[in-house]
Amino acid sequence: MINKPREHTKSIAIYPGSFDPIHNGHVDIIMRGARLFDRIIVAILVNLEKAPLFTVGERVEIARAVFKTLPNVEVDTFDGLLVDYVERRHAQVIVRGLRAVSDFEFEFQMALMNQRLNSNIETVFMMPAEKYTYISSRLIKEVFALGGRVHGLVPDLVEQRLRQKV
Ligand code: PNS
Repeated sequence: MINKPREHTKSIAIYPGSFDPIHNGHVDIIMRGARLFDRIIVAILVNLEKAPLFTVGERVEIARAVFKTLPNVEVDTFDGLLVDYVERRHAQVIVRGLRAVSDFEFEFQMALMNQRLNSNIETVFMMPAEKYTYISSRLIKEVFALGGRVHGLVPDLVEQRLRQKV
């Protein structure tokens, strides 16, 4: 069922993900989101199953430092169902980045499942600048661990933190 359009309220978008680590493709999407929505909340998943390189605390600290000059970008953590978190934060939109066709299948499944779970929440897909379309957190970690250059692909702070880790 299609609901009536809402009265104008502040548009709040949630940009969820693992962000392990945040890279310039993420940063690009967040900047675009910050222009489009009144507020964009970068929501870092607390996933106890994965073995991350950066702890959730480190990822929050890095993302807050990267966006400290953008007042309408907030960094938070969540666990449990994303749609429940979106509702708790009184947001209306989930933002996801689409880089290539290969992202589409998983994103399509997630968007439709989230739509089924809560039909008041819309998923909005955004494309990063073309120069970032091949970057992923997994590739960044792999290339850096093997001695490759990631300069220009991640914020400088992430590069520093990677050097401390590896
Ligand atoms: O950066 P990622 O790993 O692609 O992000 C995936 C994320 C965090 C968006 C997804 O795993 C998620 O929403 N997890 C929360 C649990 C949930 O709601 N699962 C059902 C989604 S259809």
